[in-house]
Amino acid sequence: MKTVLRSISATRPYHAHIAAAAAHIAAGDLVAMPTETVYGLAADAHNPTAVARIFVAKGRPTTDPLIVHIADIAQLAGVAADVPATFALLAETFWPGPLTILLPRHPSLDRQITAGLDTVAVRMPAHPVALALIRACGTPLVAPSANLFSHPSPTTGLHVMHDLDGRIAMVLDAGPCRIGVESTIVDITQSPARILRQGDVSAEQLSTVLGEVQIVTRTIDVTQAAPAPGMLLKHYAPRTPLMLLRGSAAAVRRSVVKAHAQKRIIWLCYREDERFAGMRGIDTMCLGSATDSAHIARSLFAALRAADAEGYALIVIAEPRGDGVAAAVRDRLYRAAEGVVHTLT
Ligand code: TXA
Ligand code: MG
Repeated sequence: MKTVLRSISATRPYHAHIAAAAAHIAAGDLVAMPTETVYGLAADAHNPTAVARIFVAKGRPTTDPLIVHIADIAQLAGVAADVPATFALLAETFWPGPLTILLPRHPSLDRQITAGLDTVAVRMPAHPVALALIRACGTPLVAPSANLFSHPSPTTGLHVMHDLDGRIAMVLDAGPCRIGVESTIVDITQSPARILRQGDVSAEQLSTVLGEVQIVTRTIDVTQAAPAPGMLLKHYAPRTPLMLLRGSAAAVRRSVVKAHAQKRIIWLCYREDERFAGMRGIDTMCLGSATDSAHIARSLFAALRAADAEGYALIVIAEPRGDGVAAAVRDRLYRAAEGVVHTLT
């Protein structure tokens, strides 16, 4: 299949490109669309043939359920049933935005979407292109991240092409995603509510609406069954081994120098470390200032992809500090490092 790549304005989406994309969706084909978090691979949620194609295109196990993307609360009809009372307030506060909410599944919803679970994941993305496409299709769109299974999520149209060229009908390329890590997933079908994946909407923000919220701990053992889908540690791993450091800036520098003496390493560093690395001939990719977690989140997956493509023996990175989206970055790094953190003293 020839994959058509179309550049489109992120703020005023060109209607002819949206119409062409909607025609592909109506024909049961797959279109990659930008969202504020990462690029998604969209298909008509009410077309089982199209939904099945997503799993094939990504090489994704059918046991991993999909998020349903809506542009309007009315599109929940036929998707979710018996919606909990807290839902309306959550949606009002955080939608459109980087929050995925688990709701009881509607009995008529295609079982492939929920991988046999009784809950369905729903999100209203805050991106004009995604919203325009959903509206033009007139149907909810299921959209996992538009990467091959186990690759980092794509944050540019080129990342999508790299993984899925020839496997999907079209890519709408609106440039880099504003947030850069996937949405927060919260399960409100249980009490207290549980965060299954951290993202730009923080636990503190959610607790202002929900009261007590639990953060579900991540799987430690990759060989044991995951407690919930999407909790597998290996999920975000690059091919190159990744060493995750936790400690003071000075201790991190000492570790990096030591690793550099032994192996061909790339340091995904912070701006404050660039001069230090340059003076010692250590290859780096800069994620932005150590104090700017939004910038770090935006740069992370692109840096992991780029570092992976360069054939280094080891990627070295120190955990960012802080709350908010920094917690989501630490979670993705923890997974990329397969659960091994080097705590430095
Ligand atoms: O930011 C995002 O959420 C992006 C953009 C495209 O919207 N989408 C995304 O989708 O990250 P995906 O499929 O790559 O990740 C969705 C995660 C998976 O780990 C899946 O297991 C989990 O959501 N999930 C979906 N439905 C679920 C359910 N009913 N219960 C538990 N986990 C669920
Ligand atoms: Mg994904």
